[in-house]
Amino acid sequence: MTKRVALLISGGGSNMVRLAESMTGDHPARPCLVLSNLPGAGGLAKARAMGIPTAVVDHRPFGTDRAGFEAALTEALEAHAPDILCLAGFMRILTETFITRWQGRMLNIHPSLLPKYRGLHTHARALEAGDTEAGCTVHEVTAELDGGPILGQARVPVLPGDTPDRLAARVLEQEHRLYPMVLRRFAEGDRRRIDI
Ligand code: GRF
Repeated sequence: MTKRVALLISGGGSNMVRLAESMTGDHPARPCLVLSNLPGAGGLAKARAMGIPTAVVDHRPFGTDRAGFEAALTEALEAHAPDILCLAGFMRILTETFITRWQGRMLNIHPSLLPKYRGLHTHARALEAGDTEAGCTVHEVTAELDGGPILGQARVPVLPGDTPDRLAARVLEQEHRLYPMVLRRFAEGDRRRIDI
């Protein structure tokens, strides 16, 4: 049975594009929705150009009412009956209530070698620490921020003279390789970890 995948974005959606492009042929999943919390997210136009249904649930009118936002988010998602959620540059922190509903069916990509550098500004922190390598992690989402079971990691060297932007670009290239590999394996029911 083909798994239905909802892709959640907040920005350009480059990971979303690679994930959607990967779900073809004998792939066990297909994209059913691209949803953004921001109406102006560049990834929405890319999704529409790919013929993928889109939705927007703007978080701003809800203010600090996370439950209200997540109720609207859930309604928008359920209309497309996803089996798997992929957070792909989705920049909202989700409550335990929402995560519990989707736990075991929700993935995220984080631009660091977790458990190092949970949270934001990961590349600047790696450079400040003098790390010689960096990378990205795909993990199952749990209530522990950036702390769920790791399903895959990709490593890149930190090069002399690296800036956060230059390192981010090198890591992003690997995100685009890793996330589709992990999603395919996850959609097949295989949780063995991938390292590249
Ligand atoms: C990526 O660096 C990802 O690791 C982080 O946000 C960025 C999303 O980029 N979560 P894009 O929107 O997929 O291009």
